[in-house]
Amino acid sequence: MSIDQLAETAQAMVAAGKGIIAIDESTATIKKRFDGVGIECTEENRRAYREMLLTTPKLGDYISGAILYDETLRQSTKDGVPFTKVMMDAGILPGIKVDLGAKPLAGFPGELVTEGLDGLRDRLKEYAKLGAKFAKWRAVITIGEDMPSGTCIEANCHALARYAALCQEAGIVPMVEPEVLMDGSHDIDTCYDITEVTLRSLFGSLYEHNVMLEGTILKASMVISGKDCPEQADVEEVAEMTLRCLKASVPATLPGIVFLSGGQSDEDATAHLNAMNQMGPKPWPLSFSYGRAMQSAALKLWAKDMAGNTKAAQETVYARAKDNGLAALGRWKA
Ligand code: 13P
Repeated sequence: MSIDQLAETAQAMVAAGKGIIAIDESTATIKKRFDGVGIECTEENRRAYREMLLTTPKLGDYISGAILYDETLRQSTKDGVPFTKVMMDAGILPGIKVDLGAKPLAGFPGELVTEGLDGLRDRLKEYAKLGAKFAKWRAVITIGEDMPSGTCIEANCHALARYAALCQEAGIVPMVEPEVLMDGSHDIDTCYDITEVTLRSLFGSLYEHNVMLEGTILKASMVISGKDCPEQADVEEVAEMTLRCLKASVPATLPGIVFLSGGQSDEDATAHLNAMNQMGPKPWPLSFSYGRAMQSAALKLWAKDMAGNTKAAQETVYARAKDNGLAALGRWKA
């Protein structure tokens, strides 16, 4: 795979007015989401729920790609059409979560390092054959007392770089995701500092590992007040500080940046993205790769009557995709 093909995929992922829907919850995570709405976490329910999402009519108007979990990449609609075919027919690129989760970092209580490098080369080869065009690896950075440590940031960025290089070798665009968590009572300035240090370390590691930025997408967390911080920054401040932080640490060569929602409300996630895109010229398109902020409303509706509520749930998915697609252009109105 040439760099040109990787670059083409990366650019398609951040095409104007489009973003990504993240539906790559591990079985443990989707169980938590299903528990919250009273759905049993069986393989068939997971399949049916993801079918509802992926077959939303005209989803491709605002969605360029969807990140799947291993199980989902191998599944089909109830009529036997592989999800990857449904997606490609709708103009939605199949993506795959390839990390194996964030595990405690030995020697650093409270901190996490993401695992999954062993055997990744062979897994990526198989995912490429199954139709995956891009992959995701999520690192988790926790803010707390004396946290994050430099060791935690370095270990996670090193793993992200090794993963990204392996993806490109397999012809798959890496989406690198260093998530600085919203959990905690820290203020927005602290979030800014930690995000900047993390991103600088990440791009240093990507450079050391010969990762081609033209064929890479950054999935970033926004610079935002900790969930329990008494002083919550408003939309303008979040947008302004996030943009400033990204401009200070992300090379202009990158084809695009997408955000995670990270526990923000649907409305906040959309408003923040919209405000950033109204703030004048920037080196890269800014779009979304939301999980919860794309799905929560639809999941609640679907849970009430499952197959009976498919249409209503899909209308909600479409509406969220449209709002976020408009926000990616700075044209969303509350
Ligand atoms: P949230 O938008 O729910 O944070 O999920 C995005 C994601 O894919 C995290 O890895």
